[in-house]
Amino acid sequence: MTRQAPRLNEALGEIAEALNSSLASSEKLRLLVKVVAYALGVHGCSLMLLDAQHKRLFHLVSHGLSQRYLTKGFIDSEQVVEETAEGKTVVILDITTDPRVQFQELNHQEHIGSIIGVPLKIRGDVAGTLRAYNRTIREFTAREQEFLTTAANMAGLMLHSRPIVEDERRPSEAAKVDKAHPVALDSQFRPSAFGHPSEEEFARLLDFYQIDWLYEPRSFLLDSGEGKSEMFTPDFYLPGLDLYIEITTLKPGLTREKRRRVRRLHEQYPEVNIKLLAREDYDRLLAKYGHGPMAGAKTRGVGKVLFSTPRIHKRVRQLAKEISSDYQGRHLVLVGVLRGVFCFMADLMRALTIPADVDFMALSYFQDKGEAAVRVTEDLHVNIQGCHVLLVEDIVDTGMTLTFVINYLKAHNPASVKVCTLLDKRVRRLADISLEYVGFEAPDEFLVGYGLDYEEEYRNLPFIALMEAKLQEADSRA
Ligand code: IMP
Ligand code: MG
Repeated sequence: MTRQAPRLNEALGEIAEALNSSLASSEKLRLLVKVVAYALGVHGCSLMLLDAQHKRLFHLVSHGLSQRYLTKGFIDSEQVVEETAEGKTVVILDITTDPRVQFQELNHQEHIGSIIGVPLKIRGDVAGTLRAYNRTIREFTAREQEFLTTAANMAGLMLHSRPIVEDERRPSEAAKVDKAHPVALDSQFRPSAFGHPSEEEFARLLDFYQIDWLYEPRSFLLDSGEGKSEMFTPDFYLPGLDLYIEITTLKPGLTREKRRRVRRLHEQYPEVNIKLLAREDYDRLLAKYGHGPMAGAKTRGVGKVLFSTPRIHKRVRQLAKEISSDYQGRHLVLVGVLRGVFCFMADLMRALTIPADVDFMALSYFQDKGEAAVRVTEDLHVNIQGCHVLLVEDIVDTGMTLTFVINYLKAHNPASVKVCTLLDKRVRRLADISLEYVGFEAPDEFLVGYGLDYEEEYRNLPFIALMEAKLQEADSRA
């Protein structure tokens, strides 16, 4: 036992070195579980995370466990999950007799004798567990448990660390570091390689909106009928939104397959939020900041009018009436995000029957000198601290812009922040945000007029219309 101490110390040294290295987070964690397994002389080690509801544990990174074992899904044995969530060390001395053990047969096939799991904490909050698997029945010593706990704390540190400098190089290049350049401790679980370029692009898009993400952190076991089962690993998990995203930018045949899996997942895991991002949605998202095949597309003109001028005015008056009554006696500040909102804002504020301050913000979506982030290019002029802010929007699509702006406004300590949007493209929502006042629900189409533009055109139309034809390529380059 005393002979083992230097080995454990040495292992901690190795982990600390990895933590402080330029490796991507995913590589650091992979190294950590491997070093832990070697140091303890166990055959397997796994870093498991609790899901948002604290109902299940799933494998994030592991070493020495078979694919078959890892893809068995998750652990939802109530007792084990509960004990883990309470920050307890879970010791399963003999898996064949412990009543808490699920998958007896699988554990047996994997030749697991004992399991020990210590709490994984991120910033002091329990987030999961670091587990060691031994082939035979084994009692782990106090020193070994201490070692495992220290390793878990280090893993927690890796998972928590915030970026100091955004490293927006390709993940595969992140390992080759320019020593002179201060390197990010990347905040997310970043893969060393993505399965598809569109996933990498999507990751960049999420970074751009400052949305935290994990790449393929969890696999779901799906029962596909007739006693057969299959694994489904959604592409992304966005912890802040508790949302999984599966991107389908490939062949139509595969899209159908993915739709089927997502449907199954909905049925078998009703509490899991997952959204499928289809090719077209994805391209539109990219086109918004000048990427992808739709970025240079031209349209022929204005098509069907969806909301006529009188209909818009009537609805704006109704909204103003509601707002005036809800905000009676309070200091109301209307904040609009330029430029699409200016028509709606002008009409809405003039229809209010209570006093209100009006202010605007402008955002930039474009990349600047390699720095990709939504930025506030025109800040508020009014001090909103202690005020009741009503964020006025022209249209909420994915909701990403809104999420960013709400967080930005909340940082200024207003008394409240609510949202009023003229149009709500609900079907395309990624971020679940509550919209207190909605003018109209909009279809999944590109709309122009009454402030809404397509490449700066059509803002001056007094009504809201669809574009005449589908977006078409501007030239034959693409
Ligand atoms: P989100 O961040 O995806 O919710 O996008 C919201 C912003 O995208 C809006 O404020 C608009 O500037 C723009 N947008 C979304 N859909 C349309 C549309 O149909 N026509 C014009 N602009 C749109
Ligand atoms: Mg807008």
